[in-house]
Amino acid sequence: MKEIKSDNYSIWHGENFLSKLDFSGYSKVAILVDENTKRDCLPKLPKIENSIIIEVTSGEINKNISSCNYIWEQLSEHNFDRDSLLINLGGGVIGDMGGFAASTYKRGIDFIQVPTTLLAMVDASVGGKLGVDLNGLKNQIGVFNNPESVLILPEFLETLPENQLKSGFGEVIKHALISDKNLWQEIISIPFNEMNWEKIIETSINIKNKIVLSDPYEKGERKKLNFGHTFGHAVETYYLEKGTPILHGEAVLMGILLELELSLVTQEQNNEIKNYILSNFSLPFTPKKSDLLPFLMNDKKNKVGKVNYSLLTNIGSCSVDNLFSTDEL
Ligand SMILES: NC(=O)c1ccc[n+]([C@@H]2O[C@H](COP(=O)([O-])OP(=O)(O)OC[C@H]3O[C@@H](n4cnc5c(N)ncnc54)[C@H](O)[C@@H]3O)[C@@H](O)[C@H]2O)c1
Repeated sequence: MKEIKSDNYSIWHGENFLSKLDFSGYSKVAILVDENTKRDCLPKLPKIENSIIIEVTSGEINKNISSCNYIWEQLSEHNFDRDSLLINLGGGVIGDMGGFAASTYKRGIDFIQVPTTLLAMVDASVGGKLGVDLNGLKNQIGVFNNPESVLILPEFLETLPENQLKSGFGEVIKHALISDKNLWQEIISIPFNEMNWEKIIETSINIKNKIVLSDPYEKGERKKLNFGHTFGHAVETYYLEKGTPILHGEAVLMGILLELELSLVTQEQNNEIKNYILSNFSLPFTPKKSDLLPFLMNDKKNKVGKVNYSLLTNIGSCSVDNLFSTDEL
């Protein structure tokens, strides 16, 4: 079992260490699941004495205050006190919502994140962002708060549908492109279905963790993590408004392809990145830039009426606060 230290908590990863965990210090333990993680992941957890299961329905559409209400009611009906613990067993939806529910129940109880998707392992596990959506607007209600710990077990990925695995891989690719040329070389030299997930996850978490620790309030360095996300969010919202939502990682990969055109990488590097993404992922149709402009103009990172991008200067390095007016795009 290996430890990555982040802020005031640790991210543990590697072999199946869950049976070694001791919850005896807690009055009660609840495990938050959705129907998929209940079926596929819960059986891999050890039996925990005095624990209850709280099940919510999967999907971003259920990452809302009504689901939180249900979680709070379940905790309250089962007399959970301030010395109790919530374990969030699931993807980013369960982690964000369960973490928020725990942080606000009785002014805050402890919670442990057990991410079961690649996206939640390499991205949501670091940075303390918790919350729910409001009327379709993402993460409108939330807090920054850290878990007691994050426990990462790559074997959870065995049951994850391939489209979800590839969606999470979009963030791994982003991490490599913005700060680790070696990781990029490794990614492109190994067939997708032969990836060493344990190593990829560790390297990827270390990249995000280092960036977040160096700039917790997103004044500079942390903005690098937005590479691919300005166009990516616009693409994601475009598909959401059409009523045919796509996965976050798919939108990020499309965002990376669009933002490459503004980046300073050489034509050769540009081709290498494009070829890798296009030959390994079947992405939805890329909307016309003119259809994305309304969403770009509403991006919360915009400055002085210009759209703000984090862009590659090379493979493995990235610059922030690149401002473009919409007619320059
Ligand atoms: N807090 C952060 O810093 C942060 C960062 C990135 C994303 N997020 C949030 O994460 C959410 C997306 O997370 P996600 O991509 O993990 O999606 P998700 O949580 O919706 O999970 C995807 C699907 O996979 C299923 N699933 C999860 N683990 C499984 C497993 N091991 N086996 C089988 N099925 C499994 C889930 O039930 C769900 O149907 C978004 O709400 C996003 O805002 C948060």
